[in-house]
Amino acid sequence: MARRTRRQPPRPAPSDRFTLEIRDIGVMGDGIAALPDGRTTFIDGALPGEIVEAEVTFLEQGPPRGRLVNIVRASPSRREPPCPIARLCGGCMAQHLDDRAYIDWKTRAVSTAFEAAGLDTTCLEPMQRTGERTRRRAVWQFRLGEGRLLLGYSVRRGNRIIDATSCLLLEPALQNVMDGLRRELPTLLTGPVVRRGRILVTASDSGPDVLLELDHEPDLELLQGFSGLAERLDLARLSWRNGARGEATPAAARRQPTVKFGEINIAIPTGAFLQASSAGEALIRQAVAEALADTDGPVLDLYAGLGSLSCPVASNRPVHAVEGMERMATSLASAARRSAVASRLTTETRDLDRRPVITSDLDRYSAVILDPPRAGARHQVSELAGCEKLTRLVYVSCSADSFARDTALLVKAGWRLTWVQPIDQFLYSDQTELVARLDR
Ligand SMILES: C[S@@+](CC[C@H](N)C(=O)[O-])C[C@H]1O[C@@H](n2cnc3c(N)ncnc32)[C@H](O)[C@@H]1O
Repeated sequence: MARRTRRQPPRPAPSDRFTLEIRDIGVMGDGIAALPDGRTTFIDGALPGEIVEAEVTFLEQGPPRGRLVNIVRASPSRREPPCPIARLCGGCMAQHLDDRAYIDWKTRAVSTAFEAAGLDTTCLEPMQRTGERTRRRAVWQFRLGEGRLLLGYSVRRGNRIIDATSCLLLEPALQNVMDGLRRELPTLLTGPVVRRGRILVTASDSGPDVLLELDHEPDLELLQGFSGLAERLDLARLSWRNGARGEATPAAARRQPTVKFGEINIAIPTGAFLQASSAGEALIRQAVAEALADTDGPVLDLYAGLGSLSCPVASNRPVHAVEGMERMATSLASAARRSAVASRLTTETRDLDRRPVITSDLDRYSAVILDPPRAGARHQVSELAGCEKLTRLVYVSCSADSFARDTALLVKAGWRLTWVQPIDQFLYSDQTELVARLDR
C-alpha cells in the first residue's frame, strides 16, 4: 500500500541580527549595506549614512534581506512618515525621506535606468510634482472573516492585507468610498465563509465608479444590498465581477461615470484606464503640448485610452487615436462624434503588440504620441525605428525601465532624445511618469 507522505511546513529561512552602516539607497527604497562577510544586503526603510540594527534573513534565492529593528544613528534626511502604516504598507515606500532626499531618490532611480540602457541623462528636466490627496483611482484588497474586515493595500513584499483606515494619497471622494465600504461591507457580505476580493475605484466627474471583484457570484439578496450601498454612498456606478477575469456586471448604474478632456465629456467604461491623478494628467498634457508646439499636420496617438491626449491635440489639428481596448476606443469615438472635434478626431481599435502600425503608415504623420502600458511598446518601437519621414515622437511612460529599453533602440536607429520631463504622479512609490521628446 502506498504510504501517504505528510507535507512538511516550509522551514523558515535562517536569519541573524547585525549592526550595519547603510552606504546607499536602492531604487526600491531599501538601504544598502555590506554584511561582515562582504555580501550586500537590503534593509527595508534604512537610509544612507545611518547605523542600524537589522534582522537579516538569508533567503534561498536572491540577496539577504533585512528588517530594520533599531536606528542607532539616524540620517538628517529621515522624517516621521505622515501615515501611521507607511512602514508596512506596500502602497508607499518612501514616506520616511524628507522632501529633498525623496526627490533626489526618485530622480536617481530614473537616471539609473537611463544609464543602464546607455541613454544620455543630461536631457532629464527637474521633476514636476503633484500633491497628496490627488489619486483618482485605486485598487484595494479586502478580507472579511471571523467578524473582522481588513480593507487596504497588500503588505510590502507579501500578500497579507494591511488595514488602511485612511490613505493620504487618495482624493477626498475616494477616501469617502473607503470609509463607506468599511462601514457597510461587514453587514453586506455576511456568512460563515471567509470572503476575499479586490475593489477597483475611480473618481469620475459624475461620482465614484466602483468595481467589486468577488470570490463568488452574488445572490439576489446581495445584489439588492449592492444597490442600497450605491445609494447610501452616492456612487455613480457599482459593478461586480467574479474574479479578476470575470465580466463586469453593473449592480447599480445611477449616473454614467464620465471624464472631461478639454471640452469633450467621455463616458468611462467599467475597468477603463485613466491617468492616476488629474493633476498628473494636466502636467503630462502640458509636456505633450510643448513637445508638439513647433509641429503641424496630422498626429497619431498610439495607446490612446479614452483620449486624454488626443482630445486636446484635436482642437486644432487632425488626430488618429489607436487603442487596444474596444470599449474605450468606442467610447472616445462616440464622444468625439458629438463634439467640436468631430471632423478632426478618428479612432481605431487595434492590438499594437500583435499588429503595430507599420513604418510606411507612421511616415504619413507629422508627429506620433506613444503612451504604452508599463511593459512598454517593444513591437511598435521596432516599426518607429525604421521611419524615414517622421521627425517627431513624444514618448509618455510610467516605467523608466521599459522607456529606457525602448528609447535605446530608437536612439540606435537614429532618433535623438531632446528632453525628458519626469512627473511625480505616483507619490511615495518607485514609479515616475516620463514625457520625452525625440527628434530625427
Ligand atoms: C498608459 S495608458 C495611456 C492611455 C492614454 N494615453 C491616457 O493618457 O489616458 C495605456 C493604454 O494602452 C492600452 N493598451 C494596452 N495594451 C495595448 C495593446 N497591446 N494595444 C493597444 N493598446 C493597448 C490600454 O488599454 C491603455 O488605455
